[in-house]
Amino acid sequence: MRNKAFSFALATATFLLSSGANAARQCAGSSGGFQHHLGDVRYDSPDPNKVNGLSTIAASLLSGGRTPLYECVGQWPEEWQGWYEGGSNLIWADCIYTGAGLGDDETVSFAVDWKSKTMYLSHTFACSDQKGSKALASGSIKIDFNCTTAEDDSYCVPKSTTAGTRPTLNIDTKLVPAPADGTSACADSSKQYHSWKLLNWLRRITMEPGSSPADPKLVSDTGPSFALESVTSGDTFSCTPSEDSQNGTFVGACQSQSQSAAGDATNTTAAFRFDAKLNMLEISQQWECSDASSFDVVGVGYVQAACGRVFNSDEFTCTSDPVWIGTGVV
Ligand SMILES: *[C@@H]1O[C@H](CO)[C@@H](O)[C@H](O)[C@H]1NC(C)=O
Ligand SMILES: *[C@@H]1O[C@H](CO)[C@@H](O)[C@H](O)[C@H]1NC(C)=O
Ligand SMILES: *[C@@H]1O[C@H](CO)[C@@H](O)[C@H](O)[C@H]1NC(C)=O
Repeated sequence: MRNKAFSFALATATFLLSSGANAARQCAGSSGGFQHHLGDVRYDSPDPNKVNGLSTIAASLLSGGRTPLYECVGQWPEEWQGWYEGGSNLIWADCIYTGAGLGDDETVSFAVDWKSKTMYLSHTFACSDQKGSKALASGSIKIDFNCTTAEDDSYCVPKSTTAGTRPTLNIDTKLVPAPADGTSACADSSKQYHSWKLLNWLRRITMEPGSSPADPKLVSDTGPSFALESVTSGDTFSCTPSEDSQNGTFVGACQSQSQSAAGDATNTTAAFRFDAKLNMLEISQQWECSDASSFDVVGVGYVQAACGRVFNSDEFTCTSDPVWIGTGVV
C-alpha cells in the first residue's frame, strides 16, 4: 500500500513537471543563490558575406537534465563590444525559453561585456511565499575565450580545460533586494536599481513582395508599441512611436498608466528610441521630485521579436514574449 501511494505521488509529480508550468520560488529570507549551467557559448565576429558589421554572441542555459532550456542571442556592431554605441550602457538581450523542461522564470536576459569577457544574467520569477510578488536575481561570470581566426570567419568559444575537456561554466545569481514598501518616494528611487519588463510588443511591417524578414525591403513600418513595467516600482507605461521614423529609427513617449498611493499622477515619465536596423531599443525613465531634484536612468535591449506573415499579404506582425531590460550592472 505504501509503495502504491508513493508511486502515485511520483507519477503526479512527473505530470506536473512535464506540464511546463512556471514553478515559483521562495523569496523571503532568501538571498538567492540560483545556479545556471552554461552549455554552448560562442562569439562570432561579423560575417564578411553579410557586410553588416554585426557580432553575434550566443549562449545556452541548461536544465538540470542538461538540455538547453533557454537560448540567449545578442547582436551588435562589432566596435560596440556589447555596450550601446560603445558607451556606458550594456545591451541586454532576451534568452528564449525552449520548452525542453521546467522553466522557473518569467523572463531571462543576458548581456556581455566583450571588453572584459564578462557575461551577465538576470531573471525574474514569481515568489511562492508572497502573493503577487515578483523577484529579480542577477549574477555574472568571466569567461576565458579561445579565439580562432579563419579566412572568412573569426569566432571564439570558451577555452578547454588542461585535460582538453569542456569547462564547467555556471552563473550564480542573487536576489536584487526589492525596495521596502513605502520607500517609493522620489528621492529614494534614485538609490534603487532600475529595470523594466517589456510586454505586448507589437510592430507591423509591410515588405515588397518576395522579400523576407532575413532580407527585408520595407514598404512600411509602424515601429514598435509596447507596455513597460518597472520591476523596481511597479509603475506601468504605454509606449507608442510619436513621429514617423527617421532613417529607420523610431522615437516615442510612454504614457504613465499608474498613480501614486495618494492618487496623484506619479512624477515619472518614460520615453524610448528604437533603431529598427539594429533591433536596438533604448529606454529612459525620468523623475521630477518635489524637492526640485530630478534624475533619470537608461537601459538598452536588443529586441528581435518574431515576425509572422499575415495570411495572403505582404504584412508581417512582430510580437515578443516579455523581455527584461536592465540599466547597467546590478
Ligand atoms: C583553441 O582552439 C583550437 C582550434 O579550435 C584548438 O585546437 C585548441 O585545442 C583550443 N585550445 C584551448 C585551450 O581551448
Ligand atoms: C540615413 O542613414 C544613412 C546610413 O546610415 C546615412 O548615410 C544618411 O545620411 C542618413 N540620412 C538621414 C536623413 O539621416
Ligand atoms: C510631484 O510633483 C509635484 C509638482 O512638482 C509635487 O507637488 C509633488 O510633491 C511631487 N511628488 C513626489 C512624490 O515627489
